[in-house]
Amino acid sequence: MLSEKSAATVRATLPAVGAAIGTITERFYERLFAAHPELLRDLFNRGNQAAGLQRQALAGSIAAFATHLVEHPDGRPDAMLGRIAHKHTSLGVTAEQYEVVHRHLFDAIAEVLGEAVTPEVAAAWDEVYWLMANALTAVETRLYAAHEVAAGDVWREWTVVGRTEETADAATFHLRPSDGAPAPGFRPGQYVSVQVELPDGARQIRQYSLSSAPGSATRSITVKRVRGRAGAPDGEVSHHLHARVHEGDRLHLSATCGDLVLDGGGAPLLLASAGIGCTPMLAMLEHLADTGHRAPVTVVHGDRSPAEHALRDDHAALTAKLPDAAAHFWYERPEPGHPADRTGRVDLAAVAVAPGTRAYLCGPLPFMRAVRSQLLAKGVAPADIHYEVFGPDLWLAQD
Ligand SMILES: Cc1cc2nc3c(=O)[nH]c(=O)nc-3n(C[C@H](O)[C@H](O)[C@H](O)COP(=O)(O)OP(=O)(O)OC[C@H]3O[C@@H](n4cnc5c(N)ncnc54)[C@H](O)[C@@H]3O)c2cc1C
Ligand code: HEM
Repeated sequence: MLSEKSAATVRATLPAVGAAIGTITERFYERLFAAHPELLRDLFNRGNQAAGLQRQALAGSIAAFATHLVEHPDGRPDAMLGRIAHKHTSLGVTAEQYEVVHRHLFDAIAEVLGEAVTPEVAAAWDEVYWLMANALTAVETRLYAAHEVAAGDVWREWTVVGRTEETADAATFHLRPSDGAPAPGFRPGQYVSVQVELPDGARQIRQYSLSSAPGSATRSITVKRVRGRAGAPDGEVSHHLHARVHEGDRLHLSATCGDLVLDGGGAPLLLASAGIGCTPMLAMLEHLADTGHRAPVTVVHGDRSPAEHALRDDHAALTAKLPDAAAHFWYERPEPGHPADRTGRVDLAAVAVAPGTRAYLCGPLPFMRAVRSQLLAKGVAPADIHYEVFGPDLWLAQD
């Protein structure tokens, strides 16, 4: 909890810090990477850095945390902290690195805000930083312990035992631990970080949701090749995986992380995805089929065309295995004969949503925003709508 004195100072300076936080985080990353170039090469996603996305996520989370502290002194934004801590754990972030981030962040604050940063202001924001850092490291420590690894020691070598071309741009990599040990369990909906060494020697890390159920013989990730648009370069890691990784090759995977997990119980479920956002839904569906799930399940998916719908046959077949489930697929460019009311963007108007439904969403932000509004309008409780963003979460801090 923030001390009363600091709470007053944070409240008074929030507008100024909030207004400058974009510049502060920009300067912070410049300072951090000048002092530690290895962090940009081997830990941070340099695509996100170039596009400015990670900056926005970091700035948004700090501003949201500070606002939460002054508005709800006794509470904590657990959903936001959980998401960040899971991401950090999948990257092997350690408590010592928070000291490094602290130093460069506070140097950046002093540089940007100048004399406005009196010792009192600095002390108040220092308290905010450490409250957030300690809350994150507490969750991260628990996650490392749950995986029975030392802090940061999350990487293991896996062998690609098969590769399936799903669409022109999506491939599934089937993996087994290289040391022959059994694959550790996970919860459907979770992801792994994958670390690859690129031709320039950088070791870049990206997250991929597991697209097979915990009970399957191999672990699978399904990766869409990201093509650069409007002059932007092609995605580095997805291209690397598509072009260079084949059966027999080895990959470094982190321990499984992620807080979008299927929560048992008998509630009706709605699994809504768009594009490659179907991957966690496939793991969930396979798990439901494996475990004899009987409650109603509604599967909703939107894609450009059937040919671009990765795992389409599995998506339909796994739904068909469940005793009380229906799949609704929308395509912007459907095949002839596809129903007119399933053409274009996902529209839940004609889809029955049972009372008490728990919804899981994954896809581009505009898709998730639209589906969330439609679900709220149909009476689904906000707390029952869970989602995953395939990039830095720029939504969370705005909620
Ligand atoms: C929890 C989670 C789960 C995920 N699950 C999956 C999954 O199951 N399947 C899947 O395919 N993906 C998944 N992703 C996305 C995945 O992690 C990667 O983000 C994706 O593969 C793109 O990585 P990349 O290295 O190919 O692209 P990057 O190199 O990271 O590029 C990303 C974007 O940034 C743009 N960019 C790069 N450099 C610049 C620049 N200089 N200027 C402007 N723009 C630039 C690129 O054009 C591209 O559009 C998931 C992400 C998360 C966070
Ligand atoms: C209080 C301190 C910190 C805050 C508030 C913070 C916040 C965040 C946020 C909001 C994200 C994006 C999460 C998402 O995917 O939605 C993130 C990701 C990340 N964080 Fe932190 N973080 C902190 C400390 C650290 C430290 C100490 C390190 C290690 C040096 C670190 C490394 C990373 C990396 C590598 C990513 C993923 C970057 C990417 O994919 O582009 N963070 N952090």
